[in-house]
Amino acid sequence: MKVLGISGSMRKDGNTAALVRKIVDYVDTEGCDEFETEFISLAGKKINPCMGCEKCREAKWCVQKDDWTEVANKIVNCDVLVFGSPTYFYDVNGQTKNLIDRTYSLYHDRKLNGKYSVVVSVCADRGCERTLESLEGFVNTHGFSYLGYVSGRGFKEGEVLNDLHAQKKCTEVAEKILKLVSNTHRDSKKSE
Ligand SMILES: Cc1cc2nc3c(=O)[nH]c(=O)nc-3n(C[C@H](O)[C@H](O)[C@H](O)COP(=O)(O)O)c2cc1C
Repeated sequence: MKVLGISGSMRKDGNTAALVRKIVDYVDTEGCDEFETEFISLAGKKINPCMGCEKCREAKWCVQKDDWTEVANKIVNCDVLVFGSPTYFYDVNGQTKNLIDRTYSLYHDRKLNGKYSVVVSVCADRGCERTLESLEGFVNTHGFSYLGYVSGRGFKEGEVLNDLHAQKKCTEVAEKILKLVSNTHRDSKKSE
C-alpha cells in the first residue's frame, strides 16, 4: 500500500510539511512491510494554473509541461493520499490550488476514484475550516474514500509542533491508515 504525503506550502519545512510528515512517518515506523511511504513538498516546483483549454478531455492528461506531471504521476500511483495546505486568506494557497485545478484532467476517466485520503490544513488563527473544505471538495469530487482530517495552528515555521491537539489527530489518522492493511488481511483470511 503506497502512502503519499504532499505539502502544498511554499515553505519546504513549514507547518504543513510538519503535520503531513508526522502522519507519513508514523505509518512508516509503525506499519508493516506492506506500507511504502513517500513525502513530497510542492515548494520549488513549477506548477502553472489550469488554462481551461479543455484539451485534457481528449488527452485524459494535462497537456502543459511542468512539474505537475511528476506530482500527478505520484498521485495516480498511490493508494492513500495525505494532502496538506497552509491557509492563505481563509483558503488553500495558490500552489495547492494550481495542483488541484489541473487534476481536472484526471477526472474525465476517474483516475483517482477509489483511493483513500486524509486532508491537513494549518493556519495561524482563522480560516483552517475553509481550507479543509476546499481539500475535501477535491477528494470528494475525485471519489477518494475519506479517512479524516487534521487541522493545526501555527504561524512561524515549526510552531504547529506545539499544537498538541493537532499532533494527537495526526496519530489518530495515521492509525486509520494502518488499519487499512490489517482490515484487508482480515478480509482475505475470512474468504480463505
Ligand atoms: C499570504 C498569506 C496569507 C495568510 N492567510 C492566513 C489566514 O487567512 N488565516 C490565518 O490564520 N493565517 C494566515 N496566514 C498564516 C499561515 O496560514 C501560517 O503561517 C501557516 O502556518 C503557514 O503554513 P506553512 O508553514 O506550511 O506555510 C497567511 C500567511 C500568508 C503568507
